[in-house]
Amino acid sequence: MAASSSTVAPGALPRITILATGGTIAGKANANSAVGYTAGQATAQDLIDAVPGLDKIATLQAVQISNIGSQDMNDQVWLDLAHKIDEIFAGDQADGVVVTHGTDTIEETAFFLDHVVASDKPVVLVGSMRPSTALSADGPANLRSAVQVAADSQARGRGTMVVLNDTIHGAKDVTKSNTTSVQTFTSPNSGPIGHVDAAAVQFAGPATTQPRLTFPVPGKAPLPHVDIVYSHAGMDATQVDDALGHGALGIVLAGVGDGNTAKPVVDALSAAAKRGVLVVRSSRVGSGSVVRNAELNDDELGTVSALGLNPAKSRILLQLLLSDGITDVAKVQQAFGDS
Ligand code: DGL
Repeated sequence: MAASSSTVAPGALPRITILATGGTIAGKANANSAVGYTAGQATAQDLIDAVPGLDKIATLQAVQISNIGSQDMNDQVWLDLAHKIDEIFAGDQADGVVVTHGTDTIEETAFFLDHVVASDKPVVLVGSMRPSTALSADGPANLRSAVQVAADSQARGRGTMVVLNDTIHGAKDVTKSNTTSVQTFTSPNSGPIGHVDAAAVQFAGPATTQPRLTFPVPGKAPLPHVDIVYSHAGMDATQVDDALGHGALGIVLAGVGDGNTAKPVVDALSAAAKRGVLVVRSSRVGSGSVVRNAELNDDELGTVSALGLNPAKSRILLQLLLSDGITDVAKVQQAFGDS
């Protein structure tokens, strides 16, 4: 995707395009239920209209990409988002993009976009934990925060971010850690990259000078077939057999502890790896790093360590590598990082 380097004209407001995909932020309560609601009801323009003064922070455009609960997020919407962001940045149509999204899979979409958007302009994903019709709905404040971050000159060069509950997270580490609380998003290994309130956007430090790992936007949906195998006590190799039986080109182990699992599963994964299936060891634990060649010897097994990447994001990185024709285990490990 094309990089771009335009800057905001002196005295002009930053130009922000809001791409709406649905989610609770666009949700509305069900009339006959105290807690029930339906995601993806309000439009992008409805969301903007619900935030007084948003047009004092940036000049806004609204585009409706989809209107779905993010439990139904899919590869085609990802490709539509990637192509639209590329078109916007390549054509210098905006200085930043905000994507409104359900919180269930927001971390996955953020990770995907972080690895296919080459521009250094900010892409900020935002959602809410309460529907727009709820008491103390958090969506309007979150949307204002997201626009503030996307409009801030310090946001450039930080890749894709997730902003909720006054907190700015990077795409690599952010994860949903609680089913219902407004403070659900954490970055368990690295911490948030900044905070935002009505007065200011404060980043914890400068943008990294390290080049971001990016890939060409995959040509079409669906992305290559990669399955996640969830490890538990008393496990046999059934999940591995099922994944291979359904044509998986890659398998991510959501292992116990330091990316470990029962011996029958280790044997089945290693046999698959030696037949050319890419196997990545991640962990269900939720924080820390899966150490290469520690409890399990990746060199002998032919497996890759995900290091600090969670299973869902490991799957996406593996899909992008496969989509780009990268299947050499050493190069795949390099993409995940060298422990
Ligand atoms: N349906 C879920 C989603 O769209 C609700 C969670 C939310 O958006 O907060 O992700």
